[in-house]
Amino acid sequence: MSRLPEFPIPIQIPAQANPASAADESAWYAEPQAAVAGIEDIVLVASGKGGVGKSTVTVNLACALAQAGKRVGILDADLYGPSITRMMGTERELPVDDEGRTLPVENHGVWTVSVGNVLPPEAALVWKGPLVTQALTQMFHDIAWPELDILLVDLPPGTGDVPLTILEQIPVSGAVLVTTPQKLSIVDAARGIAMFHDLDIPVFGLVENMNSYICPCCGEVQALFPDGAAESLAQRKSVKFLGGIPLDPEGQLLTDGGTPLVVSRPQGTVAQLFVGVAAELASAVERERAFRARDSNEQMRAEHEAFWENLLDD
Ligand SMILES: Nc1ncnc2c1ncn2[C@@H]1O[C@H](COP(=O)(O)OP(=O)(O)OP(=O)(O)O)[C@@H](O)[C@H]1O
Ligand SMILES: [Mg+2]
Repeated sequence: MSRLPEFPIPIQIPAQANPASAADESAWYAEPQAAVAGIEDIVLVASGKGGVGKSTVTVNLACALAQAGKRVGILDADLYGPSITRMMGTERELPVDDEGRTLPVENHGVWTVSVGNVLPPEAALVWKGPLVTQALTQMFHDIAWPELDILLVDLPPGTGDVPLTILEQIPVSGAVLVTTPQKLSIVDAARGIAMFHDLDIPVFGLVENMNSYICPCCGEVQALFPDGAAESLAQRKSVKFLGGIPLDPEGQLLTDGGTPLVVSRPQGTVAQLFVGVAAELASAVERERAFRARDSNEQMRAEHEAFWENLLDD
């Protein structure tokens, strides 16, 4: 390969985040967890396995949170397989304001940014290591996000480079894990939970997607895998079970077509289940925020007392 392409978002990379030489490479890590301007809470949507419904859950939760009055954004961190533009109906270029700042695209009351906004739908990304880090840094810090209560981050599957880069560089409030009821997905979800626990990142809960089926004749919800594997994993790992979402091929056509179910069929059973999961998530995020405020008050008090004690000792 002759040369790797550069990240195509037409924005300026701040000097600090764009080390000119290997010598000042430490600049990348000078402030590894710089807050993302205007955003209260960053919540990762993760899974161990691919194709379990992370993007579906992300867009429906985002729309449900927006309907509940939250200011919400989605950052599509699935650089190699972005789905958010298609699912949110935001397949257009990122706008640039009068000051030359790149803005996210809004639809259904949610602000979104994805590699899908800057690459043609079938273009393949051929980036690795540093370019991935640079692209993620730009998506968080160089986009002029509006003030948001929650930014949901749709991750690629697994515990690889992208989640680790984000966890290293971005102050993440917590994560939601998505799994299907099959054993292999559950095992991988357990691995995902372990990663977050190892890194001291709160896990707000586990969503079990495609765990049941709604009978098209009578509307009854029928379990597909009756043993409640995700719920018992959640119990074993002391994580909250946020709820199950049925397999809904017809409804999914609407989500895949750019209008998530929560918006297109708000009164339907599946949309209502998403609304319930979103409410649980919103409370978990608020609880965590209250803990953080308490901890930082305690820390400030401790630092204040230590300061005066040291002064008196001197
Ligand atoms: N509840 C559901 N009912 C019917 N189809 C669904 C449901 N959830 C997801 N799907 C379908 O399953 C496929 C995978 O869903 P999705 O893209 O949301 O998963 P993902 O975990 O984000 O995948 P990836 O790991 O590739 O990013 C898609 O074709 C989607 O339309
Ligand atoms: Mg996805």
